[in-house]
Amino acid sequence: MQFQKNFSLKKYNTFGLSATAKCFATFSSAEELKECLDEGKSVVRKMILGGGSNILFTRNFDGVVLKNEILGMTIIEEDDEYVYIKAGAGVKWHSFVMFCVDHNFSGVENLSLIPGNMGASPMQNIGAYGVEIKDVFCNLEAFHLEEKTQQKFSASDCEFGYRESVFKNKYKNQFAILNVTYRLKKHPEFKITYGSIEKELEKMQVQELSVKAVSDAVISIRSSKLPNPETTGNAGSFFKNPIIGAPELQKLRESNLLTDPNIPYYKIDDKNFKIPAGWLIEQCGWKGYRKGDVGCYNKQALVLINYGNATGNEIYDLSEEIKISVKEKFNIELDREVNIV
Ligand code: FAD
Ligand code: EPU
Repeated sequence: MQFQKNFSLKKYNTFGLSATAKCFATFSSAEELKECLDEGKSVVRKMILGGGSNILFTRNFDGVVLKNEILGMTIIEEDDEYVYIKAGAGVKWHSFVMFCVDHNFSGVENLSLIPGNMGASPMQNIGAYGVEIKDVFCNLEAFHLEEKTQQKFSASDCEFGYRESVFKNKYKNQFAILNVTYRLKKHPEFKITYGSIEKELEKMQVQELSVKAVSDAVISIRSSKLPNPETTGNAGSFFKNPIIGAPELQKLRESNLLTDPNIPYYKIDDKNFKIPAGWLIEQCGWKGYRKGDVGCYNKQALVLINYGNATGNEIYDLSEEIKISVKEKFNIELDREVNIV
C-alpha cells in the first residue's frame, strides 16, 4: 500500500473530469483497507471509489480517495433452485453478469452492460429494464471506516429504494462495501415485458428464450441509445425519474402546455406514477443541446455529456438550468442520481 499525493482522478471517473485527490491509494483486502485508514488517519475526509461511473467531481477532493480493488467471485452455496455467488467489491459488474449468463443463472441478465463495480451495486440499488439488484440481493459485508469493524447487512438492513440504500443516506461515507452475495435462479425466469426487450428479441429472431438472448437484447438496446463512457464522458442518467401522484399526472395530461400530449409513464401503484425525466427534459428543448464541451445527449436527454474539456462545475450548472426549466414548465422537481463531490 502506498499513498500517492495530488493524484489525478481523470482516468478514474467516466465523465473524464480533471480533478485531483489530496491522497490516493488502492486496497485489495479488508486488511489493506485497515492499513490505508491507519496511514491516512490524520486526513479527515475519506471516499471509497469504485469504477467512477456515477460521480461528478466539481472540485478537487481534499482528502483520501481509496479505490476498492477487492477481486474474486465464488459460488458459496447452492440448492435445486438457487445458486449463491459472492463477489469482491472490485469485480466489474458486467463481468459478474457475464459469469451468470455463461452459467445460465438468471436474475441479472436485464442488468447487462451497466458500468461500474460490484461494490457500488447495492449502494445505488442499480436497476434497468424492470429489474433492480434488490430482487436478487442476499447480503453484503462492509467495513466501518471509523470503528474499523466488519458488519454484515441483510436486504432489510440496506433499506433499498429507487437508486437508494442506507449507504447513500444515513451511512453515507461511513462504510466500505467489501463483498456482495447475490442469489440467482438455476431455472431461468424471464422479465421481458419492460421497454423494448420483446421487440428487440423479435428483431434478433430469437426462437427460444434464454438468459443469453435476453442479455444480448439488453446489450443491443443499451448500445443504441447510451453513450460509451470510453469515448464520450458521461455517468448514465444524470437525474432520477420523478414519481408523481395520480392528480398531478392527470393535470399534466390535460395541460395544453404540452407539445406532446401522450406523456409516457410507468404505473408504480394506483397512487404513484414514474415519469421519464428524459421526456420532460426533451420537452424543455434540451435534447442535443451543446455549449462548449458540455451537452445533453442527442439520443437520450437524461444523459449529460463531457465532450472533452468540460469542468464538473459546467456540467453541474447545465444540470441546474435543466432542473429550473423542468420545474417552470411542469412544476416537477428533478433529483440528481449522480453523486456530486
Ligand atoms: P462509483 O461511481 O465509483 O461510486 C458511486 C458511489 O458509490 C460513490 O458515492 C462512492 O463513494 C460509492 N461507492 C463505490 N464503491 C463503494 C464501496 N465498495 N463501498 C462503499 N461505497 C462505494 N446505473 C443504473 O442503476 N442503471 C443503469 O442502467 C445505468 N446505466 C449507466 C450507463 C452508463 C453509460 C453509465 C456511465 C452509468 C450508468 N449507471 C447506471 C450508473 C452507474 O453505472 C452505477 O451507479 C454504478 O453502480 C456505479 O458503480 P461504480 O463502481 O462506478 O461507482
Ligand atoms: N424519453 C424521451 N426522450 C429522451 C429519453 C427518454 O422521450 O430523450 C422517454 C421515452 O418515452 C422512453 C422513456 O423516456 O420510452 C424511457 O427511456 P429509457 O428506456 O431510455 O429509460 P429511462 O427511464 O430514461 C431508466 C434508468 C436507466 C435504465 C433505463 C432502462 C433512471 C434514472 N434511469 O432510464 O438507468 O438503464 O431506465 O431501464 O431510472 C442510470 O440509472 O444511470 C440508467 C441509465
